Amino acid sequence: MLGGRSTVLFRMLHRKCRSQFYPRTNNTVSRTFVPDEKVPWDIIWEEYNPATFTASHINGQPWADPAITDSNFHPQWNRIDGNINRKSHMGQYQIVDFLPLNPLGRTGLRGRGVLGRWGPNHAADPIVTRWKRDESHNVEFHSVTKKPILQFIAIQRRDTGEWAIPGGMVDPGEMVTSTLKREFMEEALNILECGSDKIEKSNALIDKFFDEGEDIYHGYVDDPRNTDNAWMETVAMNFHDESGTSVGAFPLCAGDDAVNVRWMDISKELTLYASHNDFIAKVVAKHNSHW
Ligand code: BGC
Repeated sequence: MLGGRSTVLFRMLHRKCRSQFYPRTNNTVSRTFVPDEKVPWDIIWEEYNPATFTASHINGQPWADPAITDSNFHPQWNRIDGNINRKSHMGQYQIVDFLPLNPLGRTGLRGRGVLGRWGPNHAADPIVTRWKRDESHNVEFHSVTKKPILQFIAIQRRDTGEWAIPGGMVDPGEMVTSTLKREFMEEALNILECGSDKIEKSNALIDKFFDEGEDIYHGYVDDPRNTDNAWMETVAMNFHDESGTSVGAFPLCAGDDAVNVRWMDISKELTLYASHNDFIAKVVAKHNSHW
Protein backbone atom coordinates (compact mmCIF):
# COMPACT_ATOMS: atom_id res chain seq x y z
CA MET A 1 0.00 0.00 0.00
CA LEU A 2 1.25 3.47 -0.79
CA GLY A 3 1.33 5.90 2.12
CA GLY A 4 0.48 9.62 2.13
CA ARG A 5 4.05 10.58 1.23
CA SER A 6 3.95 8.57 -2.01
CA THR A 7 0.73 10.28 -2.99
CA VAL A 8 2.47 13.63 -2.72
CA LEU A 9 5.46 12.37 -4.72
CA PHE A 10 3.20 11.06 -7.47
CA ARG A 11 1.46 14.41 -7.71
CA MET A 12 4.85 16.07 -8.23
CA LEU A 13 6.27 13.57 -10.70
CA HIS A 14 9.49 14.97 -12.16
CA ARG A 15 9.90 14.50 -15.93
CA LYS A 16 12.46 16.95 -17.32
CA CYS A 17 15.22 15.24 -15.31
CA ARG A 18 14.36 11.82 -16.79
CA SER A 19 15.05 12.66 -20.44
CA GLN A 20 17.36 10.26 -22.27
CA PHE A 21 20.50 12.41 -22.31
CA TYR A 22 21.97 14.58 -19.58
CA PRO A 23 22.17 18.25 -20.76
CA ARG A 24 25.43 19.90 -21.90
CA THR A 25 27.18 16.57 -22.58
CA ASN A 26 26.62 16.38 -26.38
CA ASN A 27 24.46 13.33 -25.74
CA THR A 28 27.41 11.36 -24.33
CA VAL A 29 25.82 10.81 -20.90
CA SER A 30 22.62 8.74 -20.87
CA ARG A 31 20.18 8.27 -18.05
CA THR A 32 18.74 4.88 -17.18
CA PHE A 33 15.10 4.91 -18.32
CA VAL A 34 12.88 5.34 -15.25
CA PRO A 35 9.18 4.67 -15.92
CA ASP A 36 6.70 6.87 -14.02
CA GLU A 37 5.71 4.13 -11.61
CA LYS A 38 9.33 3.48 -10.59
CA VAL A 39 10.21 7.08 -9.75
CA PRO A 40 9.48 6.92 -5.97
CA TRP A 41 12.30 5.43 -3.89
CA ASP A 42 9.83 3.38 -1.86
CA ILE A 43 8.97 1.31 -4.95
CA ILE A 44 11.54 -1.49 -4.78
CA TRP A 45 13.66 -1.84 -7.95
CA GLU A 46 16.62 -4.11 -7.20
CA GLU A 47 18.24 -3.97 -10.66
CA TYR A 48 18.31 -0.15 -10.63
CA ASN A 49 21.98 0.70 -11.18
CA PRO A 50 22.34 3.97 -13.13
CA ALA A 51 25.60 5.53 -14.31
CA THR A 52 27.41 8.08 -12.15
CA PHE A 53 28.31 11.41 -13.72
CA THR A 54 29.89 14.54 -12.29
CA ALA A 55 31.15 17.02 -14.91
CA SER A 56 34.91 17.50 -14.63
CA HIS A 57 34.69 21.31 -15.05
CA ILE A 58 33.08 21.73 -11.64
CA ASN A 59 36.14 20.29 -9.82
CA GLY A 60 37.76 22.97 -7.70
CA GLN A 61 35.18 25.65 -8.52
CA PRO A 62 34.59 28.00 -5.57
CA TRP A 63 30.81 27.49 -5.90
CA ALA A 64 31.05 23.69 -5.91
CA ASP A 65 31.45 21.01 -3.22
CA PRO A 66 34.48 18.72 -3.30
CA ALA A 67 34.18 15.06 -4.32
CA ILE A 68 32.21 13.04 -1.80
CA THR A 69 35.33 10.95 -1.16
CA ASP A 70 37.46 14.02 -0.24
CA SER A 71 38.66 13.36 3.34
CA ASN A 72 38.35 17.08 4.19
CA PHE A 73 34.70 17.25 3.19
CA HIS A 74 32.35 16.95 6.18
CA PRO A 75 28.98 18.26 4.97
CA GLN A 76 26.23 18.93 7.51
CA TRP A 77 23.28 17.50 5.62
CA ASN A 78 19.81 18.95 6.20
CA ARG A 79 21.37 21.92 8.04
CA ILE A 80 22.78 25.38 7.47
CA ASP A 81 26.39 24.32 7.02
CA GLY A 82 28.58 27.38 7.67
CA ASN A 83 27.27 29.76 5.02
CA ILE A 84 25.93 26.99 2.74
CA ASN A 85 22.25 26.16 2.97
CA ARG A 86 21.94 22.35 2.81
CA LYS A 87 18.33 22.39 4.01
CA SER A 88 15.61 21.41 1.60
CA HIS A 89 12.26 23.18 1.21
CA MET A 90 10.85 19.66 0.88
CA GLY A 91 11.64 18.57 4.45
CA GLN A 92 14.38 16.15 5.54
CA TYR A 93 16.06 14.30 2.69
CA GLN A 94 17.63 10.90 3.22
CA ILE A 95 21.31 10.03 3.13
CA VAL A 96 22.10 6.63 1.64
CA ASP A 97 25.68 5.39 1.21
CA PHE A 98 26.91 8.87 2.24
CA LEU A 99 24.91 10.54 -0.53
CA PRO A 100 21.76 12.69 -0.34
CA LEU A 101 18.74 11.22 -2.15
CA ASN A 102 16.62 13.31 -4.51
CA PRO A 103 13.35 13.90 -2.57
CA LEU A 104 11.21 13.43 -5.70
CA GLY A 105 12.71 10.04 -6.55
CA ARG A 106 14.83 8.39 -9.23
CA THR A 107 16.26 10.34 -12.18
CA GLY A 108 18.28 7.56 -13.86
CA LEU A 109 21.66 9.14 -13.02
CA ARG A 110 23.89 9.29 -9.93
CA GLY A 111 26.52 11.90 -9.13
CA ARG A 112 26.17 15.67 -9.32
CA GLY A 113 26.03 16.19 -13.09
CA VAL A 114 26.80 19.89 -13.62
CA LEU A 115 25.36 21.01 -10.29
CA GLY A 116 27.78 22.39 -7.70
CA ARG A 117 26.26 21.02 -4.52
CA TRP A 118 25.42 17.54 -3.37
CA GLY A 119 21.79 17.65 -2.23
CA PRO A 120 19.78 20.86 -2.73
CA ASN A 121 21.14 23.64 -4.97
CA HIS A 122 19.26 26.83 -4.12
CA ALA A 123 18.07 29.37 -6.70
CA ALA A 124 15.73 32.37 -6.65
CA ASP A 125 13.34 33.48 -9.41
CA PRO A 126 12.03 37.06 -9.67
CA ILE A 127 8.81 37.16 -11.71
CA VAL A 128 8.44 40.82 -12.69
CA THR A 129 5.04 41.62 -14.19
CA ARG A 130 3.00 44.51 -15.66
CA TRP A 131 -0.22 44.76 -17.67
CA LYS A 132 0.01 44.75 -21.46
CA ARG A 133 -1.04 48.21 -22.71
CA ASP A 134 -1.81 49.83 -26.07
CA GLU A 135 -0.25 53.13 -27.32
CA SER A 136 -2.74 55.10 -25.24
CA HIS A 137 -1.57 53.22 -22.16
CA ASN A 138 -4.89 51.34 -21.81
CA VAL A 139 -4.72 47.77 -20.51
CA GLU A 140 -5.32 45.23 -23.29
CA PHE A 141 -7.89 42.46 -22.85
CA HIS A 142 -7.80 39.14 -24.64
CA SER A 143 -10.47 38.84 -27.35
CA VAL A 144 -11.58 35.35 -26.28
CA THR A 145 -11.16 35.16 -22.49
CA LYS A 146 -11.94 38.91 -22.04
CA LYS A 147 -9.30 38.96 -19.32
CA PRO A 148 -6.46 41.50 -19.05
CA ILE A 149 -3.15 40.29 -20.47
CA LEU A 150 -0.22 40.13 -18.08
CA GLN A 151 3.39 40.38 -19.26
CA PHE A 152 6.53 39.22 -17.48
CA ILE A 153 10.22 39.86 -18.04
CA ALA A 154 11.68 36.78 -19.68
CA ILE A 155 15.30 36.06 -20.54
CA GLN A 156 16.72 33.61 -23.03
CA ARG A 157 19.20 31.38 -21.23
CA ARG A 158 22.72 31.14 -22.61
CA ASP A 159 23.00 27.43 -21.67
CA THR A 160 19.91 25.91 -23.32
CA GLY A 161 18.51 28.74 -25.47
CA GLU A 162 15.15 28.39 -23.71
CA TRP A 163 13.13 31.35 -22.44
CA ALA A 164 12.97 31.58 -18.66
CA ILE A 165 12.46 33.72 -15.59
CA PRO A 166 15.69 35.71 -14.94
CA GLY A 167 16.63 33.66 -11.87
CA GLY A 168 19.93 32.47 -10.54
CA MET A 169 21.78 30.71 -7.77
CA VAL A 170 21.76 31.96 -4.19
CA ASP A 171 25.38 32.74 -3.26
CA PRO A 172 26.73 31.28 0.02
CA GLY A 173 25.49 33.40 2.91
CA GLU A 174 23.26 35.52 0.66
CA MET A 175 19.66 36.34 1.63
CA VAL A 176 17.19 35.07 -0.99
CA THR A 177 15.65 38.56 -1.16
CA SER A 178 19.05 39.92 -2.27
CA THR A 179 19.46 37.17 -4.89
CA LEU A 180 16.09 38.03 -6.42
CA LYS A 181 17.06 41.66 -6.93
CA ARG A 182 20.68 40.97 -7.91
CA GLU A 183 19.79 38.40 -10.58
CA PHE A 184 17.17 40.70 -12.08
CA MET A 185 19.61 43.62 -12.19
CA GLU A 186 22.35 41.47 -13.78
CA GLU A 187 20.30 39.53 -16.33
CA ALA A 188 17.46 41.89 -17.31
CA LEU A 189 18.88 45.40 -16.76
CA ASN A 190 22.58 44.59 -17.19
CA ILE A 191 23.46 47.58 -15.07
CA LEU A 192 27.18 47.05 -15.64
CA GLU A 193 27.05 47.60 -19.42
CA CYS A 194 23.76 49.40 -20.09
CA GLY A 195 23.07 51.07 -16.73
CA SER A 196 21.23 54.20 -17.84
CA ASP A 197 20.89 57.43 -15.86
CA LYS A 198 17.28 56.59 -15.34
CA ILE A 199 18.14 53.37 -13.53
CA GLU A 200 20.92 54.94 -11.48
CA LYS A 201 18.58 57.65 -10.29
CA SER A 202 15.95 55.03 -9.45
CA ASN A 203 17.84 53.04 -6.85
CA ALA A 204 15.38 53.81 -4.06
CA LEU A 205 12.45 52.96 -6.33
CA ILE A 206 14.02 49.62 -7.29
CA ASP A 207 14.69 48.78 -3.63
CA LYS A 208 11.07 49.53 -2.75
CA PHE A 209 9.81 47.50 -5.72
CA PHE A 210 11.83 44.48 -4.62
CA ASP A 211 10.65 44.88 -1.00
CA GLU A 212 7.08 44.29 -2.06
CA GLY A 213 7.16 40.84 -3.60
CA GLU A 214 4.55 38.15 -3.17
CA ASP A 215 5.42 34.50 -2.55
CA ILE A 216 4.62 32.28 -5.51
CA TYR A 217 6.47 29.05 -4.85
CA HIS A 218 9.28 27.56 -2.84
CA GLY A 219 10.44 24.02 -3.31
CA TYR A 220 11.84 21.47 -5.74
CA VAL A 221 12.27 22.34 -9.42
CA ASP A 222 11.98 19.73 -12.18
CA ASP A 223 15.27 20.88 -13.73
CA PRO A 224 16.98 18.86 -16.52
CA ARG A 225 20.26 19.00 -14.53
CA ASN A 226 18.88 17.11 -11.50
CA THR A 227 20.31 13.74 -10.55
CA ASP A 228 19.63 11.15 -7.85
CA ASN A 229 22.03 13.02 -5.51
CA ALA A 230 21.80 16.70 -6.51
CA TRP A 231 18.80 18.80 -7.43
CA MET A 232 17.52 22.38 -7.90
CA GLU A 233 15.17 24.14 -5.52
CA THR A 234 13.92 27.69 -5.81
CA VAL A 235 12.04 30.53 -4.18
CA ALA A 236 9.89 32.29 -6.79
CA MET A 237 8.39 35.70 -6.00
CA ASN A 238 6.19 38.03 -8.00
CA PHE A 239 7.00 41.75 -8.22
CA HIS A 240 4.14 43.54 -9.96
CA ASP A 241 4.15 47.06 -11.44
CA GLU A 242 0.41 47.81 -11.47
CA SER A 243 0.67 51.19 -13.23
CA GLY A 244 3.49 50.16 -15.59
CA THR A 245 5.36 53.35 -14.77
CA SER A 246 8.18 52.16 -12.50
CA VAL A 247 10.24 49.06 -13.32
CA GLY A 248 7.64 48.35 -16.01
CA ALA A 249 8.99 51.35 -17.95
CA PHE A 250 12.72 50.60 -17.62
CA PRO A 251 14.81 49.87 -20.73
CA LEU A 252 15.80 46.18 -20.76
CA CYS A 253 19.27 44.91 -21.61
CA ALA A 254 20.36 41.27 -21.41
CA GLY A 255 23.46 40.44 -19.36
CA ASP A 256 25.33 37.68 -17.51
CA ASP A 257 23.71 34.26 -18.25
CA ALA A 258 21.08 35.83 -20.55
CA VAL A 259 21.47 36.37 -24.31
CA ASN A 260 18.10 38.08 -24.78
CA VAL A 261 15.52 39.78 -22.63
CA ARG A 262 11.96 40.97 -23.29
CA TRP A 263 8.49 41.53 -21.93
CA MET A 264 6.57 38.38 -22.83
CA ASP A 265 2.77 38.11 -23.05
CA ILE A 266 1.53 35.46 -20.65
CA SER A 267 -0.71 32.65 -21.93
CA LYS A 268 -0.86 28.90 -21.60
CA GLU A 269 1.00 28.55 -24.93
CA LEU A 270 4.31 29.53 -23.29
CA THR A 271 7.03 26.88 -23.13
CA LEU A 272 9.60 27.86 -20.58
CA TYR A 273 12.65 26.34 -18.93
CA ALA A 274 12.30 23.71 -16.14
CA SER A 275 9.12 24.26 -14.03
CA HIS A 276 8.86 27.96 -14.90
CA ASN A 277 5.48 27.49 -16.68
CA ASP A 278 4.01 26.27 -13.39
CA PHE A 279 5.27 29.35 -11.53
CA ILE A 280 3.82 31.66 -14.19
CA ALA A 281 0.46 29.84 -13.95
CA LYS A 282 0.40 30.62 -10.22
CA VAL A 283 1.03 34.32 -10.95
CA VAL A 284 -1.87 34.30 -13.43
CA ALA A 285 -4.17 32.83 -10.77
CA LYS A 286 -3.14 35.57 -8.36
CA HIS A 287 -3.92 38.37 -10.84
CA ASN A 288 -6.92 36.69 -12.52
CA SER A 289 -5.39 37.50 -15.90
CA HIS A 290 -5.61 35.89 -19.34
CA TRP A 291 -4.16 32.36 -19.63
C1 BGC B 1 17.82 29.27 -12.77
C2 BGC B 1 16.48 29.48 -12.14
C3 BGC B 1 15.78 28.14 -12.07
C4 BGC B 1 16.65 27.15 -11.35
C5 BGC B 1 15.99 25.79 -11.32
C6 BGC B 1 18.63 28.23 -12.05
O1 BGC B 1 19.79 27.99 -12.77
O2 BGC B 1 18.55 30.46 -12.86
O3 BGC B 1 15.72 30.34 -12.95
O4 BGC B 1 14.50 28.21 -11.45
O5 BGC B 1 17.89 27.03 -12.00
O6 BGC B 1 15.71 25.31 -12.60
